[in-house]
Amino acid sequence: MARIPKETVDQIIHTADILEVVGDYVQLKRQGQNYWACCPFHNEKSPSFSVNPSKGLYKCFGCGKAGGIIQFVMDVEGSSYPEALQALAKKYGVAVPEEEERTPEEQLAQNERDSQYIVSNWAKDHYHRLLQNTEEGMSIGYGYLKERGLNLTTIQTFELGYSLDQWDDLLKSATAAGYEQKYLEKTGLVIRREDDQGHDTGRRYDRFRGRVMFPIHNVSGRVVGFGARTLKRDDKMAKYLNSPESEIYHKSDILYGLYQARQPIRNQELCYLVEGYLDVLSLHQGGIRNVVASSGTSLTEGQIRLIKRYTDNVTVLYDGDAAGIKASLRGIDLLLEGGLNVRVVLFPDGDDPDSYIRKVGDQRFTEYIELQSQDFIAFKTTLVAREASHDPVKKAEAIREVLQSIAKVPDGLKRQVFLQQTASVFGFEEQVIITEYNKLLKTRPEGRGGSQPPAVPPAPTAAPRRALTPEEEAEEAMYGVSGGSEAMAGSLSSSAADASDLGQPLDVLMQCEQAVLRLLVLYGPHEVQPEVTVAHYLLSQLDGTPLRTPLYAQLWSECREAFLQGQLPDLRLLAHHPDAAIRSLLADFATERYDLSPNWRIKDIYVPTELNLIQLACDNAILRLNKCHVQRERQQCLAQLNDTRLDDNDQLNALLRYNELTKLDNQLAQMLGTVVARGA
Ligand code: CTP
Ligand code: MN
Repeated sequence: MARIPKETVDQIIHTADILEVVGDYVQLKRQGQNYWACCPFHNEKSPSFSVNPSKGLYKCFGCGKAGGIIQFVMDVEGSSYPEALQALAKKYGVAVPEEEERTPEEQLAQNERDSQYIVSNWAKDHYHRLLQNTEEGMSIGYGYLKERGLNLTTIQTFELGYSLDQWDDLLKSATAAGYEQKYLEKTGLVIRREDDQGHDTGRRYDRFRGRVMFPIHNVSGRVVGFGARTLKRDDKMAKYLNSPESEIYHKSDILYGLYQARQPIRNQELCYLVEGYLDVLSLHQGGIRNVVASSGTSLTEGQIRLIKRYTDNVTVLYDGDAAGIKASLRGIDLLLEGGLNVRVVLFPDGDDPDSYIRKVGDQRFTEYIELQSQDFIAFKTTLVAREASHDPVKKAEAIREVLQSIAKVPDGLKRQVFLQQTASVFGFEEQVIITEYNKLLKTRPEGRGGSQPPAVPPAPTAAPRRALTPEEEAEEAMYGVSGGSEAMAGSLSSSAADASDLGQPLDVLMQCEQAVLRLLVLYGPHEVQPEVTVAHYLLSQLDGTPLRTPLYAQLWSECREAFLQGQLPDLRLLAHHPDAAIRSLLADFATERYDLSPNWRIKDIYVPTELNLIQLACDNAILRLNKCHVQRERQQCLAQLNDTRLDDNDQLNALLRYNELTKLDNQLAQMLGTVVARGA
């Protein structure tokens, strides 16, 4: 789209009323200088989305989205900057003088694209008319759609149509309506016939004939191309014909159904990804509106960026055959790389989402996908683990494959959790898996720019070798016996060195402390159980565990004091904390999306009392913090055991304490395992 002059941009910003524009999407309530609402960009029950009309800015303290009026329109409509400006200009009657601001080429290009949009839109209407107003359209086209279970509302919502089984119906009608042939050709609606030498014969014919037409919309709802399904049972004929690439249709940047699905995706914070047009239509009709299709091709980065505008959570709905799954694994890795939380649902052999929802009905379908959806990495892990269960060579290969997927996940904490899961599925110590993972990163060819493969620091678990039990390990430390090889003794002394500088584990401790603190300030007033708030839960569970990081400790004890006075943490008040360091910490907390939902989605709906997501998150954070302390103390013990200056008695005490801590550590690991398993 054309450049819009700066004065016009300023005029739009000054004329447009942010309260009015935002008010079109959410209900604003005044509180002091600001207006508050539940955020239109993420799901929430109490408002953390604020608008400051005098500054013309909005900010959500929950998800971190912030900006001015133009940004708001871009975010909420998923439109580009110029599109947002145009929309605002239109709403407020600001004239946009594009003509003189554009170079002749720009203007020409714009006219070219506009003409293509216009003719595509006309063709869509034409096909839609044919479906409903001609005998052929009614009996063949509409008859087919009805047989596939689609009703009139769905047909209207997606503007489905029908192309007559003739060589030039569209060409003739379009020409009669005054459209230039040039644009019919550029959009691929009409094909020019060439002879063997590639010379134009002057003959033209319609690309789509005798097919059901699926218009493909871009996010602003403009038709950019078509998918067209034949109704003939003829193996030689392609089932689907699609519009070719054109100046307005870039296949890699389009997802079928997104225009209709974007608001539902935003509301539900989840996007279902299917393969076919029919899958989108059937699910939409069945009440599952947050669904888009990749249209049979493998996913592109452009499509993933598109999804990310609306949500971070994707659930891939596959048909069940193994070949199909294998083929799609790469596309899913791409989703991970894009920072999305990916879950997978498999359908019984032979069914795709469309056939399955028709078979079992809307209700059972919805239950099925909720029950069956599993985290992608966990899914992939079990898939490859099962295939390789009895073959050690295959097993090593399988682990590497899973680790490759994990390396795509940009979020460090999530990677840690996945590595733990992988270790437990394959029955290895976490440290072994992490070593393997770090090796893999070293040998991996440099990825494309931007995605730096994230190395993982050694796990806090002081179990560098899997051959020794903790008792053996301690014994070895105490008497310097090499129960194993030289190499093992070597790695042991290095772990003793770790204990003295504690560099790595400190980071882990900070992370753990941050996690509990973040839960406290962001979710303090929520309830983990009836009558028990998150604040109450965390403060009482961690009463004997003071935070060590000074800044965290300060905020923690302030929240604790306030709690004892009967006040719950209030992010909005805390946001004005006099201490700048705390303000910035809170900004981090509020902007960093702490996604409870994807990893902690309820999977087992048969559990009698509904599992509480927040409680899972709290339990996880509490256990991790405790485990971290135990491991630090355990490492200190190990250092003492190595210290020859200690007398026998002290050494014995250290050994006893060491064994105690090891047991505790194992218990905590087990409890964490159950918490993680409950959520995964
Ligand atoms: N597709 C295509 N060209 C083909 C076959 C498929 O472009 N020759 C794309 C279409 O976007 C199609 C998707 O791949 O929607 C999935 O293919 P398939 O599952 O075969 O089609 P369905 O949409 O399920 O259609 P139907 O159920 O009518 O067979
Ligand atoms: Mn199908």
